[in-house]
Amino acid sequence: MPVITEIEDLKRLYKRRVPKMFYDYTESGSWTEQTFRENSSDFDLIRLRQRVAVDMDGRTTASTMAGHDVSMPVALAPVGMTGMQHADGEILAAQAAEAFGVPYTLSTMSICSIEDVAEHTSRPFWFQLYVMRDQDYLERVIQRAKDAGCSALVLTLDLQILGQRHKDLKNGLSAPPKLTMGTVADLSWRWAWGMGMLRTKRRAFGNIVGHVKGVENAGSLMAWTAEQFDPRLDWEKVRKIKEMWGGNLILKGILDAEDARRAADVGCDAIIVSNHGGRQLDGALSSIRVLPDIVEAVGDRVEIHLDSGIRSGQDVLKALAMGARGVHVGRAYIYGLGAMGKSGVTRALEIIHRELDISMALCGYRDVKDLDRTALLTGPEFD
Ligand code: FNR
Repeated sequence: MPVITEIEDLKRLYKRRVPKMFYDYTESGSWTEQTFRENSSDFDLIRLRQRVAVDMDGRTTASTMAGHDVSMPVALAPVGMTGMQHADGEILAAQAAEAFGVPYTLSTMSICSIEDVAEHTSRPFWFQLYVMRDQDYLERVIQRAKDAGCSALVLTLDLQILGQRHKDLKNGLSAPPKLTMGTVADLSWRWAWGMGMLRTKRRAFGNIVGHVKGVENAGSLMAWTAEQFDPRLDWEKVRKIKEMWGGNLILKGILDAEDARRAADVGCDAIIVSNHGGRQLDGALSSIRVLPDIVEAVGDRVEIHLDSGIRSGQDVLKALAMGARGVHVGRAYIYGLGAMGKSGVTRALEIIHRELDISMALCGYRDVKDLDRTALLTGPEFD
């Protein structure tokens, strides 16, 4: 087992352990992947301000996100098909998040269902909703999330139509993988992954398969979802969903100051500045680059979170210093899950926490909630 000290180590191990089709699904952006790349590289343009001779005893990374206490302001983002990265992946990730004291968000497109995750965790998790045309399904899945005690609804607004990802198309991505010459050769190297998959009962999309007439298996699901994402989603519908849910609401996928104002008008509890990890509109700006505009537009009206490109505790620090209350990580914990299961998710969280804590101290802060622009020496690109 290699020594794991940074997220990049988990990624290397992850690449060796999971089938190529699922590695590529994670490690890709849409079209040219410009936005995917810049989500990370733009963080490198921001430089930190070192301070010395500051008492750094008694530090804390504890905070709140959308009214929830967190041990550090980092939530696990919703990731579709997590249960294909590792058997029972959603359950394991939710358990790791719970033990660490950070929120876990279950995707609509998860393999384990809302009920599976609720049965194997003891604290409420968050549920991410994709808006479907089928109104009955929409109402039922919201009710299921309520019944399972989910403590926030994360409504994704940037995927009513799928940004094209070349790798997925070329790999013929499917769950479970279709058996072709290529996949059989690939799978034979990933026997540990395959053995895990054979043992788990949860190989269907548990939030959908069996809950929609005519969708009895993953094959029929693919056709259903392609037709189902509701292209007519607008702010009026967002308001209706807010009413149907009646609880804590987080709007995900905001990248524009005008949209941030609209989201604040709806009266949500938080917005997530996000470009879906560079998987939707290629050519859009990185999340960290648009954050200042959005903070200026609505920072006094709504809590602001950020995702896309976070790979270290220093990235977290930079986002917080630029005005985010918290961040969400996607790939960083998926690498850990695919590499080592639940302990890999825990390892990813430990790495991020340690980097955040030490960097915060070296910038002269003891409390993560005090971080602001004075922690940064920003480059001209961000002025
Ligand atoms: C995602 N994301 C996502 N978002 C969402 O709202 N519902 C979903 O089902 C998924 N599925 C998904 C699958 C995979 C493989 C990835 C990598 C991402 C987007 C996710 O929630 C988040 O916005 C990004 O992952 C953040 O970027 P980083 O942290 O991965 O760079």
